Amino acid sequence: MKSIKNQADLNQKNILLRLDLNVPLENGTITDTTRIDKILPTIKYLLEKNAKIIILSHVGRPKGKVVKELSLEPICEDLKIKLKTDIKLITKNIREINSTDLFKNQNEKIVILENLRFYEEEEKNDNAFAKHLASLADIYVNDAFSCSHRAHASIFKITKFITSYSGLQFDLEIEALTKITSEIKKPITCIIGGSKISSKINIIKNLISKFNNIIIVGGMANNILKYQGYEIGKSLQEDNCHQIIEGIFSLSKKEDCEILFPEDVVVGKNLNGDPTIKELKDISKDDLILDIGPKSIKTINNLIDKSNTILWNGPAGYFENPNFAKGSIQIAKKIVEKNNNNTIYSVAGGGDTVSLLNTIDAVNSFNFVSTAGGAFLEFLEGKELPGIKALN
Ligand code: 3PG
Repeated sequence: MKSIKNQADLNQKNILLRLDLNVPLENGTITDTTRIDKILPTIKYLLEKNAKIIILSHVGRPKGKVVKELSLEPICEDLKIKLKTDIKLITKNIREINSTDLFKNQNEKIVILENLRFYEEEEKNDNAFAKHLASLADIYVNDAFSCSHRAHASIFKITKFITSYSGLQFDLEIEALTKITSEIKKPITCIIGGSKISSKINIIKNLISKFNNIIIVGGMANNILKYQGYEIGKSLQEDNCHQIIEGIFSLSKKEDCEILFPEDVVVGKNLNGDPTIKELKDISKDDLILDIGPKSIKTINNLIDKSNTILWNGPAGYFENPNFAKGSIQIAKKIVEKNNNNTIYSVAGGGDTVSLLNTIDAVNSFNFVSTAGGAFLEFLEGKELPGIKALN
């Protein structure tokens, strides 16, 4: 994969820069700008090299139709402020834009084309649409790792028609994910949470052979407690996962990977309720398990202490209510402490985990925090992502 960072001559070159500006919008207001903030270095780098930038992105899932609420306009406004430069949002139909329409004004350095998913050809990975996009520039840069699990025209097919490179953020993402999946410094521990064990089973299976410890927390740990014979009351649970759990335990034995799950819990009577610490044997029929308890925190933190590498995906509890955020926060703080002493390589990812780290301002205290959702998970499953394949 060729990276744009090794390209010396970008002077006056027109660059198609595919970004993932798919940020949450509420009534036209961006509620989390993490993804925008992360790609600013790439834009600044290209500007320093005197390149002209045509930004491509999607936001939301408009399914090939123009949806006013899913315009890139608020994102364009945010970029203007952050980059302190004028940026033109081109709302003209992409199919009708020619390269000569762009940068007519010499002072213009950045333009944004309107939401790519307003065009059905994008998700169809359409050849002609990809060719047309490619005709608008000299060079293509994919700095949207988080879209690389999608074989869409602006991610996959486009690379057939134009010299293509990975962007700076894309490179960092690959470097971090490679460090925790193939160039591992052991002992390595994975903390994995989330609501559904079935949605993470392929990751767990892929990591068992490479990792020393896998700690299962969050809603999906409830299934394991139930499998072990404990009452889990009204807690989140999934049907028919007996076999999945059996599979995890038998594979972990074979591969010598330790599987850990909560030793004690914090329960509430509802999501807004008050917290009560309970031993597993004391959970009652009207309890909801909403966090890990102090013994579990201690065990997890001891394990983090002994690890050289850590991967974290999915909070330990219902952190949206501060009464049940302690487990996740203590884990985060322990990793940050080890990071500050340079005694661990840490990677975290997934929407909820990033939100949690944002609430305690810890995003910059990890070696790498991935803002990719599906792409991050599919990479960890060991799948070949179309976006990476195309660049290779
Ligand atoms: C994401 O948010 O994970 C990417 O922007 C991809 O979006 P999608 O799941 O709608 O394809």
